[in-house]
Amino acid sequence: MKNEIKNAIRHLVTKAYEVFVTNKSDVSVVSLPGTVWEFETSVINHNDFANNFGKSYKLDMQLVESDPDVYNGSLRPLSTLFPHNKVSSYVLSRENVEYHEQQLSAAVVNKVKSNNIFAWFDFCGNPTTNDLHLINTALNKNVTYVFTFNTAWRCDTNVDPYVLNFSKITSKSVAIHAYLKTLADTLGLTVVWSFEYISNHNPMITVCVSNDANVLADKSFRYNNISLNKNQIVKSKNTSITKVKTVKRDLSAVYVDYKNKIDDNTIRAKHNISVQCLAAVKAWVTMGK
Ligand SMILES: C[S@@+](CC[C@H](N)C(=O)[O-])C[C@H]1O[C@@H](n2cnc3c(N)ncnc32)[C@H](O)[C@@H]1O
Repeated sequence: MKNEIKNAIRHLVTKAYEVFVTNKSDVSVVSLPGTVWEFETSVINHNDFANNFGKSYKLDMQLVESDPDVYNGSLRPLSTLFPHNKVSSYVLSRENVEYHEQQLSAAVVNKVKSNNIFAWFDFCGNPTTNDLHLINTALNKNVTYVFTFNTAWRCDTNVDPYVLNFSKITSKSVAIHAYLKTLADTLGLTVVWSFEYISNHNPMITVCVSNDANVLADKSFRYNNISLNKNQIVKSKNTSITKVKTVKRDLSAVYVDYKNKIDDNTIRAKHNISVQCLAAVKAWVTMGK
């Protein structure tokens, strides 16, 4: 693959997977292979290595694809000598690997066999409510989830309303980061990494959350380049990241009142702000914890 940064992200996710599976007897993987299938192949290779030369573990994979052309192009050919996609046929020939043409949903994640779930939600599209809320499938599980979203949406009709609102007073990447962090906190998950990158000229964010002891102990995965500094965010919006020219409201007085534990109604009346705006400020404060 020629896309260096995407190669590097794939490598990072694969390394996180290897750390995640250490000393586990069973692991489930959920992923969107698209047309590439490199991560899924490395998962199979890792399992083969462990089962032959290391500490064996049970593996099952749930893979999905919503685009019929991509799905059909990856299907294991049952009656032809010429596979459409040799890499996918290698993965799909394995036991305990399911591949379906459908939207990724909580039901897909809930189908996996193990309580140890490693998922790469490599959407690369807009942060929809359905996609973001997949984090809730981590409840009572041992997980490492990696999310990837686009941070330069033009059409925002499918963007989660909370993220959309918050992005208007901060930035798209901060809004996605803050929303996932808020949900992660309530689920007892830690944000392991959260950073922006440019892939094929598109700004993206990747956020990894986990409650797995192996992954949390490995400090080499800890990386965060999402600026929480309001001035830097405004500055970055005037550069190449989003090209949005909106003038930001100064919400510093709202932060001060919220931190001073003044009640919500008083803050909203005093500063003439909406419920959503106050919620966004709260999330922002939570991010700085
Ligand atoms: C960015 S690509 C995956 C790339 C791959 N993980 C890699 O390493 O290059 C995302 C793929 O998932 C599909 N996809 C995106 N969102 C989806 C969703 N919510 N449900 C199912 N498939 C989805 C897209 O059609 C695309 O083929």
